[in-house]
Amino acid sequence: MARILTGIQSTGRPHLGNILGAILPAVKMSNDDQNDSFLFIADMHSITQIKNSEELKSNTYAVASAWLAFGLDPTKTVFYRQSDIPECTELAWYLNCFFPYQRLKLSHSFKDKVNRLGDVNSGLFVYPMLMAADILLYDAERVPVGRDQLQHLEMTRDVASRINHKYKDVFIMPEPILQKESMLIPGTDGKKMSKSSNNVIDVFSDVKTLKKVINKNIITDTIPLEKPKNTDTSIVYALYKLLAKPEEAELMASRLKEGGYGWGHAKKELLSLIIERFKEPREKFNYYLDHQDEVDEILSNGAKKARIIASSTLSRVRKKIGL
Ligand code: TRP
Repeated sequence: MARILTGIQSTGRPHLGNILGAILPAVKMSNDDQNDSFLFIADMHSITQIKNSEELKSNTYAVASAWLAFGLDPTKTVFYRQSDIPECTELAWYLNCFFPYQRLKLSHSFKDKVNRLGDVNSGLFVYPMLMAADILLYDAERVPVGRDQLQHLEMTRDVASRINHKYKDVFIMPEPILQKESMLIPGTDGKKMSKSSNNVIDVFSDVKTLKKVINKNIITDTIPLEKPKNTDTSIVYALYKLLAKPEEAELMASRLKEGGYGWGHAKKELLSLIIERFKEPREKFNYYLDHQDEVDEILSNGAKKARIIASSTLSRVRKKIGL
């Protein structure tokens, strides 16, 4: 059994891109009995950017509800909220004290945030050490991450080996598992789907909103209805193909290529497919949003399990460093 751990940013309601690119593959991995998996909502990382208490809280519920709706099984995965684990910030402090300031200054994500954000707080600067604490606290062996997080993993290994070198056998060295970027989900404008690009499809929204987003936001060309259409450049078709069975996608492709079948028809099919394919997750998502007490209970049960390991790691660390 390998211990696999990953953190999810709580930046709001997950969209179709998050679901296909991150949630579904991670749920699959966590339901594999070969893995001892840990998954948490990184709300203490979110606070570097979100300074609205209601928003921070509702983001956590939205993210937790979405993962549960897509089949995350809290009896198979230790599923918790980062802020329920005070051991994490304590460990982060120790790590800060062993990691050179000059190395943190080389962080790509920090430089990027300095250029983008108005609120350049110190939390953003030490973000990688909080992330390292998330990982090292549980002796995680494998950490699935996107390419943008690889440097954070390098820093995690770096700080772990500095401490191991000085005090011997303190931390397990985690290995990153690079999540393939093959799942580039186009947004309504054809660019990668992301919240900041304002091009997302929120599969949890009500049918009316979903219909509006699909009809108004997905860009199509102006080729007349009766003419044959190009499926290679079509965003509607690309999205349909990602969700449909191969034979359904082929059927749509041949209709589009024949002519007499317009983008309006294709959009209607896409809407029905989304509603059909996500019927159960949509219902479950709403159920959890209406039953936040259940979500709280699931997360606090997860935190109890997580803290047993966290506190034992922390006492090992404290002893090694002389506290
Ligand atoms: N920083 C990660 C991201 O932006 C989220 C995260 C926080 C994380 N702590 C982690 C991922 C620990 C993996 C392991 O996506």
